[in-house]
Amino acid sequence: MGPYRKNPCDTPVTFSTHMDLEQLVDAALLKATNATTAAELDAVESELTGRSSPIADARRQLGKMPATERPTFGARVNEVTEMVKAILATRRAELVRIEADRLLQDDKVDVTLSALTIPSGTEHLIQETIDEASEIFIGLGYKVAEGPEAELGWYNFGALNTPTDHPSRLESDTLYLDFGDPADEILLRTHTSPMQARYMESFEPPVYVVIPGKSYRADAIDASHLPVFHQFEVLAVDSDITMSDLKGTLAYFAREFFGPQVVIRLRAHFFPFTEPSAELDVSCFVCGGSGIDCRLCKGAGWLEMGGCGMVDPNVFEAVGYDPAKVTGFAAGMGVERLAMVKHGIANIRHLGIDNDIRVLRQFR
Ligand code: DAH
Repeated sequence: MGPYRKNPCDTPVTFSTHMDLEQLVDAALLKATNATTAAELDAVESELTGRSSPIADARRQLGKMPATERPTFGARVNEVTEMVKAILATRRAELVRIEADRLLQDDKVDVTLSALTIPSGTEHLIQETIDEASEIFIGLGYKVAEGPEAELGWYNFGALNTPTDHPSRLESDTLYLDFGDPADEILLRTHTSPMQARYMESFEPPVYVVIPGKSYRADAIDASHLPVFHQFEVLAVDSDITMSDLKGTLAYFAREFFGPQVVIRLRAHFFPFTEPSAELDVSCFVCGGSGIDCRLCKGAGWLEMGGCGMVDPNVFEAVGYDPAKVTGFAAGMGVERLAMVKHGIANIRHLGIDNDIRVLRQFR
């Protein structure tokens, strides 16, 4: 405890001489310098200038002094008070600066460091192709639906008018999760067509829907086959849908997707769930359909895109629609095929097996 400090247990320290006041200035300097935070300096300030400080005591003494001594002592008390206040103010400013410097140091950012580049991914070309095809049909008023990849044999085959002895139902062609009894077999869907049946079961006509998704087949990998691939299913059911609606819709899709010069061709074919059925070809947009020296269509002039046809009445019956009241068309296209033809990709492995970022990056 300093000599200037009032101790409540002792006789109050008084300032009768200039010496005491000089000591107070020295003490103020020392204490202020030792204070390293604003809070510590607050405590020093109240100790030195507060109501029970030596300065306050000195002022109280002034009143009791003989009038002759009062002016000199009073002037000195004022002077010391100003000096103490100046010392405190100087130290306070110093502490503010030290704190600011510390903050600056802590928050220092080196603007010369090279920025972190976080690589941002993009959608895979398959997803991009699905989105692009979906957008075209959405523009025509179609909805987009998705369905299970592990499917009941009933939806994959039965509801789609595919007899139990159809070769596609063989264990060698289809990846079964549960094989044996055709009544309750479970498989990895071999196409997106089962969602036709599921969708019609859940919704009343009219139906205008596209169904993109994965399909699975027991196929060996080569330049144009993958055991896991994608299809894009189209289904339209209404009171008077005709084959010209099918052709017009697919022609519109082909022009939007590949370019305005493209025309389509329907080639008679067979699918169990459509009657009549056709294969869908688009004219080669590289050679304009001539086939001459064409690396894309290899002379054919046409590119195969998938299958289509008018929904078989047996399918309507299987899902509870009245074939006397509704007609419809359906189509299924290979998504990999759409992407490969559009972007000139020669090998399907680039899309599903290699996943070489250098290939995929080209389609950002
Ligand atoms: N699901 C058939 C396949 O995978 C393609 C297909 C053909 C879909 C005709 C259809 C259709 O909707 O009507 O080979």
